[in-house]
Amino acid sequence: MKSARDPICGMTVDIATALQVEQHGEIRYFCGESCREQFVNSLVPSDPAGPCAIVIFGASGDLTKRKLLPSIYHLVANGVLRKEFAIIGVGRRDWSDRDFRGHLREAMEEFASPNIDNELWDLFEDRLSYCSGSYTDLETYRKLDRMLEQEATARETGGNVLFYLSVPPESFGSISTYLGESGLLREPAGNWRRVVIEKPFGHDLASAMELNLTLSKVMAERQVFRIDHYLGKEVSQNLLVFRLGNSIIEPVWNRNHIDSVEITAAESIGVEGRAAFYESTGAFRDMIQTHLLSVMALVSMEPPTSLEGEAVRNEKAKLLDAIRIPSKEEVRTGTVRGRYGEGEVNGQLVPGYLDEPSVPSESTVETYAAIKLWVDNWRWAGVPFYLRTGKRLARRVTEIVIRFKNPPLQLYGKTECSPLGPNLLIMRIQPNEGMTLQMRAKTPGTVTRTRAVAFEFDYSQFGSVEFSDHSTGYEKLLYDCIVGDPTLFHRADMVEAAWEIATPILDGWESGIAGELTTYAAGSWGVKEADRLMGKDGRQWWTM
Ligand code: BG6
Repeated sequence: MKSARDPICGMTVDIATALQVEQHGEIRYFCGESCREQFVNSLVPSDPAGPCAIVIFGASGDLTKRKLLPSIYHLVANGVLRKEFAIIGVGRRDWSDRDFRGHLREAMEEFASPNIDNELWDLFEDRLSYCSGSYTDLETYRKLDRMLEQEATARETGGNVLFYLSVPPESFGSISTYLGESGLLREPAGNWRRVVIEKPFGHDLASAMELNLTLSKVMAERQVFRIDHYLGKEVSQNLLVFRLGNSIIEPVWNRNHIDSVEITAAESIGVEGRAAFYESTGAFRDMIQTHLLSVMALVSMEPPTSLEGEAVRNEKAKLLDAIRIPSKEEVRTGTVRGRYGEGEVNGQLVPGYLDEPSVPSESTVETYAAIKLWVDNWRWAGVPFYLRTGKRLARRVTEIVIRFKNPPLQLYGKTECSPLGPNLLIMRIQPNEGMTLQMRAKTPGTVTRTRAVAFEFDYSQFGSVEFSDHSTGYEKLLYDCIVGDPTLFHRADMVEAAWEIATPILDGWESGIAGELTTYAAGSWGVKEADRLMGKDGRQWWTM
């Protein structure tokens, strides 16, 4: 019998008798009608979002051409954004609609897809317009209001508007205030108005609280969408499904079975001409305070009572509140930072951070950080969470490693020269999204020897899915903003809780209690102190 695997239930089926569906030239086989139906339903795109107008402040910037416009194009191309939409770019450049369209057309081929569909582009281009003006001039907002009214009629956007602030963080407060004062955030019956802001949400706790207060004066919290592109990544979204949808995993997800958790976001790129931004942030603010704490919340939050946005966010907020605020001693012994020096990455010699363009020679900014955190709640008491990130590391990889406790008796460890390694669950966020469960098995032969074996799950097993060819990672997040689903976005209290954890670490580093900023060679795995941080606890970083 020739057999195949049912992609829904995993059963082996006889292809001669199994039900079939063709997907992109490949035949899928199913054990029965219900699996076949589930598969077919999963191919139908989500309900289309819209109608709406999308207003992008910072329209001539990098994010607009690299991520935002390509994502909106992908949403339209995949039928998940209705054709009743308009995009208005706002910027200081004195551009006409034509200039704006020309600028984006080129970028689309580079960042959306090399094969832009001309018919679709015509429709898209027709809905693009540009509003030139200063962000601090009320006249810009009046002009925008008039343009939005025209679009509401011409494109039937229904008066719904998503304002995307793709601007430096110092402008979030003032643009929101102008939007509020010019009446653009008012929601007449049946319409919605929402504002998207990108991280960083403040520079420290005080500035984050101030920003939250400013926003709250002109709009309701449900109108604010604080975006974190790490939460749009597939594996991040899969974390809760994996934890709560599998009866084999859920019972072991706690201190009784888990020894420690490691979250790594390693980048091989350097600051890439963003020194001005990076000098005011550094690796800790840029990656740990934001992305990695959000991922940690997903790994460790309690199950929500439903998948409704606020129910999920309540649990994330509770978890962030339960993370222990590090004491001075914990900052001294449980955090390390470093800065890359010259070195070789992917076979190329690259300069050290201090030699990057526009980095001042007296810079004290870290490009690498590793910290240990504790969650003081019933589920996680005693389980350390190790978080690390860095630029110019050996390889680009973002992974969560769950290290399980050893079996109570080391029966098999005795027959080996090395002790029995723990079971590991490695969840790869990027690249090659997937999961690996590392277990022990006996090698064949008369003598009992064990070896680690890997059970792999790779996202490519899902075959071709929505946006899979040219995803920017923003499609899901933009879609959620337009349909008004806040689940993946930060709420004001979550941002403040994250800053409460970060502040003593940043203060400690500034006051010098945590030792020197050490240099690591570009292309290495970062500073040696990070190995000692784990080594003191009898553990070592998972080597990728
Ligand atoms: C951004 C940071 O938020 O995330 C960048 O500002 C970083 O410094 C980037 O390079 C990493 O994102 P990704 O999706 O490439 O891991």
